[in-house]
Amino acid sequence: MTYLGMQVVIEGLALAAFGQIRDHAQNPLAAQVNAYVMQDESRHVAFGRLALRDYYPQLTQKERDEREEFLLEASYLMRDRFDAVELWQNLGLPIEECAQAMYESGFMEKFRNSLFTRIVPIVKDIGLWGDYIRKGYEEMGVIEYAKADVQALQDEDEHIARQFDARQREIQRVIDRAQAVAAE
Ligand SMILES: [Fe+2]
Repeated sequence: MTYLGMQVVIEGLALAAFGQIRDHAQNPLAAQVNAYVMQDESRHVAFGRLALRDYYPQLTQKERDEREEFLLEASYLMRDRFDAVELWQNLGLPIEECAQAMYESGFMEKFRNSLFTRIVPIVKDIGLWGDYIRKGYEEMGVIEYAKADVQALQDEDEHIARQFDARQREIQRVIDRAQAVAAE
């Protein structure tokens, strides 16, 4: 249960959040730092995935049901936690209208997209794919994300971090050359 909560749910959520910064930040340092954090987190998710894939087939049906329930509830909480209801309340703004506008904003759409791309295929991969969770994800409208290729996502996180490394080395070479020329 701890691995499920941590390596699948929380680190999946983290990857989605860091990905927004890595892929959209205007500041190169912010993008680079997040690429490295994601490289690391992505490996943690892979660890959880491998550990749980071996372990879950040994659980009883009741134990698996409990985990599916937990997952679905966590998925709804993660999806809805940015509706910022308390903020609108304190500002005296129309709550439902504001929450709706948040939900439909392009940024949140992108965020939900990467969130469920990170979580749903892992859930399927570790074999926690009973009637309860499938029905729940179907109602939530996120079942299609199960088709995402988790290995490809992980490879991409590695690849992007290495690209940042290569870019930094190139910048350093340019600086070194310029300094050598200036010293002549
Ligand atoms: Fe981690």
